[in-house]
Amino acid sequence: RMKLAVLTSGGDSAGMNAVVRAVVKAGILKGCETWVVREGYEGLVRGNGDEQQKAEKPALSPHQNVRVRDESFVHNLRFGDGELLRDGTSDHPGGRTLKGRYIVRVGWDDVRGWFGVGGTLCGTARSTAFRTPEGRLAAAYNLIKEGIDALVVCGGDGSLTGADVFRAEWPSLVAKLREENKINEEQAKTYGHLKIVGLVGSIDNDMSMTDMTIGAPTALHRICEAIDNIESTAFSHSRAFVVEVMGRHCGWLALLAGVSSGADFIFIPERPPSADSWEEEMCSMIQRHREIGKRKTIVIVAEGAHDKNLNPIRAEQIKDVLSEKLGLDTRVTTLGHTQRGGRPCAFDRIMPTLQGVEAVNALLEATPDTPSYMIGVQENKIIRVPLMEAVKMTHSVSEAIAAKDFDKAMSLRDPEFHE
Ligand code: F6P
Repeated sequence: RMKLAVLTSGGDSAGMNAVVRAVVKAGILKGCETWVVREGYEGLVRGNGDEQQKAEKPALSPHQNVRVRDESFVHNLRFGDGELLRDGTSDHPGGRTLKGRYIVRVGWDDVRGWFGVGGTLCGTARSTAFRTPEGRLAAAYNLIKEGIDALVVCGGDGSLTGADVFRAEWPSLVAKLREENKINEEQAKTYGHLKIVGLVGSIDNDMSMTDMTIGAPTALHRICEAIDNIESTAFSHSRAFVVEVMGRHCGWLALLAGVSSGADFIFIPERPPSADSWEEEMCSMIQRHREIGKRKTIVIVAEGAHDKNLNPIRAEQIKDVLSEKLGLDTRVTTLGHTQRGGRPCAFDRIMPTLQGVEAVNALLEATPDTPSYMIGVQENKIIRVPLMEAVKMTHSVSEAIAAKDFDKAMSLRDPEFHE
């Protein structure tokens, strides 16, 4: 039966825990053995240390009140011992330690209630080791040692590209491990093919070929609430606020926050203003709004905003323009990581759950000839798309921006975009 592992990678996002929960539970229901990799790709590279550490695995606890289906189901339940939640990393002050074990067998109970928790309980890291061939060789060895040959990765475009590279390299990694006598002939044959599926965890909603990324709805909601709070104080003092939101290369959060809060002006990377006229353009718009009676001014700027010449446009700079040219009492609020953390909204529980189930289906149906799939959502339907096509299209948006072809960037983001 398939042994599958799930990991979260790159910047965290609300809904990642719901992904892990769904993959583990769907995996168990479909007869798979389920594992979680802690600390993203870094955990794959570090693996589980030596056999002695493995032998220190805690005793299994009995589980009650759970309907028994079949033997493998019971086995999975038993194996889940809540160790993921109870344990910290080896330097965790309070918790019982996992003693350097990064690839952990999990069961039904380990992931109970995970969908309401923000961030990622398995941990995430931006692993430099996994970017090296040696790191990926170690990762392959660690997976084969545990008998795992199916991987679900939840992360941004970089993390998903890493997964595809790993899959493409897998046969040569297996051959190398055999050559070095780290695995036997039988293992080399059994684990000749790595199945992978990607899910997009990113608050920026910056991946092509899916309408929504996991964590983006929660982050947007967080921004709306923050702007609601800012608005009341802005109104009291008749002030202007420049609100900086996340989105290194993508203006989705800023754009939609602008729509949902009725902002006066927004700056996004895909639709930049011209270098020599944005100050006047913004000021005349805000002046007009003030003249018709608005007591407060909200300008939203994506952290990756720039003008048409690609000069960055920063919140402080906008504040100076508003103060100097319009005489507005202006403050800057950088929302930062409050956008990323915290409890997922309902959609960031439902969408990752449906996508997690689809990820397990895709793994069960994968053959060496099927492409690596990314699970996304299009027009309210959970879909599978070739992962590298989506990554390539996403990169073309950045390339179009770098080449100052902003119409192309916009139409790649949204083929139905009209001015
Ligand atoms: O990739 C998502 C993102 O939220 C970006 O918008 C932001 O620039 C970045 O993460 C910040 O990430 P970190 O603080 O982890 O470096």
